[in-house]
Amino acid sequence: MSDTLRPLISAARIRGRVAELARQISDDHRAASLTLLIVLKGATVFAADLMRRISVPFVIDFVRASSYGKAMRSSGAVVIEDEARLDIAGHHVIVVEDIVDSGLTISTLVAALRKLGPASLDVCALLHKHVDGAKPVDIRYKGFDIPNEFVVGYGMDYAERYRHLPGVYRLTL
Ligand code: IMP
Ligand code: MG
Repeated sequence: MSDTLRPLISAARIRGRVAELARQISDDHRAASLTLLIVLKGATVFAADLMRRISVPFVIDFVRASSYGKAMRSSGAVVIEDEARLDIAGHHVIVVEDIVDSGLTISTLVAALRKLGPASLDVCALLHKHVDGAKPVDIRYKGFDIPNEFVVGYGMDYAERYRHLPGVYRLTL
């Protein structure tokens, strides 16, 4: 139990950026019916703040994407749970994710969702980690670029801990 947390992004900075993202999303979806598809569990805190700042009507749903293992880096095998039940055919969908790291999770998810026939499909991620050899991912609504370090807080965990922290912290063990 010698985890070290160092602040990376304060709650105040997150609040400001979330408001900007919400404004951008609202401006882009004035005429279109919008679905926010929130990726469990890490994106729930971000999504809860984001949705309260969006000024156009929308519906929400949830999807679970898990990569096997409890390590600090992606294991390479991503499983999307039960996506076929999602009712997104013909809808304008924004996938709300906490962090894009290797890009594997979001790419796998986007490929699975495309098969369900959404009218449009975009990605909103609070964080984009810069990792050598990562899959190129098109993040239309991006909060912050961060260095290649493991982060927790604002919904993000290490072994289910630290999700409650109001800001984003770098974690070293
Ligand atoms: P990717 O598939 O490598 O892009 O990883 C994306 C998923 O891994 C995210 O949805 C998170 O659940 C998790 N993840 C990646 N990096 C971090 C991190 O620094 N802290 C917490 N979770 C992370
Ligand atoms: Mg996640």
